[in-house]
Amino acid sequence: MKRFKTAVALVAVVAIGGLGFIYSGVYPMSADDAHSKPVYWALETLRERSIAARTRDIEVPPLDDPQMLLTGGADYNDMCAGCHLKPGKTSSEMSAGLYPQPPNLALGIEGHAGHEGGHGDVNTSAARRFWIIKHGIKASGMAAFGPTHDDARIWAMVAFLQKLPTLDPVQYQILTARAEGEMQGMDHESDAPQAAASEVSARDSKSDVHDGMKMTQPHTAAAASTPEQVMAAFQAAMKSGDAALVKRWLAPEVLIYEGGAAERSRNEYAAHHLGADMAFLKQSRVEIIKQSSGGGDDAAWVTTESRIRGESSKGKPIDVASTETALLKKTAEGWRIVHLHWSSQDFKAVP
Ligand code: HEC
Repeated sequence: MKRFKTAVALVAVVAIGGLGFIYSGVYPMSADDAHSKPVYWALETLRERSIAARTRDIEVPPLDDPQMLLTGGADYNDMCAGCHLKPGKTSSEMSAGLYPQPPNLALGIEGHAGHEGGHGDVNTSAARRFWIIKHGIKASGMAAFGPTHDDARIWAMVAFLQKLPTLDPVQYQILTARAEGEMQGMDHESDAPQAAASEVSARDSKSDVHDGMKMTQPHTAAAASTPEQVMAAFQAAMKSGDAALVKRWLAPEVLIYEGGAAERSRNEYAAHHLGADMAFLKQSRVEIIKQSSGGGDDAAWVTTESRIRGESSKGKPIDVASTETALLKKTAEGWRIVHLHWSSQDFKAVP
């Protein structure tokens, strides 16, 4: 009995002490005053355990639909880049002053001091990101986007986040631009009432899809990307080593000229040079210097001059000026690449 009384007294003292501490106003809540190490640890562990317990049963849908990259990119640029930054930007007024600091999502998982280091495979990381975007994180700047965005749009952002670290500033800009000028190209497809509507409502029509986990692409959204965006998405797929996605952008009959050699179909390219080209681009820095484009409703060209710095397969440093001519045609699924011509020379030799 005596022991019981002591325990009750102890609990009362701790409770009163705790309440006293809370009411005293001693604890700093300002964002510019960092938590002590133990408090930081406690909050971080609380957050990660809580998220892990809630993401276990999330089924990750296929994230390799090319269109997701475009939808997700435009959304990211509108709603997230102010805090989570973008290629070429290391700080913003918003990101610098937030506490906890929003991780720089353009840096990739290895590069930032975020919390994904120990979050295992791609699937776990995708599920975790989906959950965080949908539900937000209490007492941080991270809002819940679930109340305003359906699952399909959130998955598209997750898909975009996987490619974001591979984008250079110019590619990022092209990929994330909302394609407005596309509407004229869609006139002949206006058999469905929403096909003639603006891209914004093409996006909205996605909210009619309530099967949540599945990314259903209305035909209109696929048609809404520009040839420049397709080329940027193609490059991003190459750079991230995603062969399946690369192939989605190539027409089956694509003709590829590279250094005097010709490859005459998508399958031929996939079986020969694609692997080596992706490996080279993966460790290279591509800087777009000049890009132009033109064409009509059904066929278009995009020419790109860039500087590529990296290493040859034998470890020799490479610094080349590269030129690319791409021809695209409009298919039922949107713009696809039918011809590519690549050539390059030593960058220093460029007049
Ligand atoms: C107002 C600033 C702000 C905006 C806008 C914002 N976030 Fe966040 N986000 C944060 C902060 C702060 C954290 C870190 C929270 C923490 O550590 O507890 C975070 C965390 C995250 C994480 C987890 C990262 C990690 O590695 O732990 C993801 C993923 C994320 N945000 C995605 C997004 C996406 C996608 C958008 C746009 C739809 C977005 N955020 C908009 C501030 C923001």
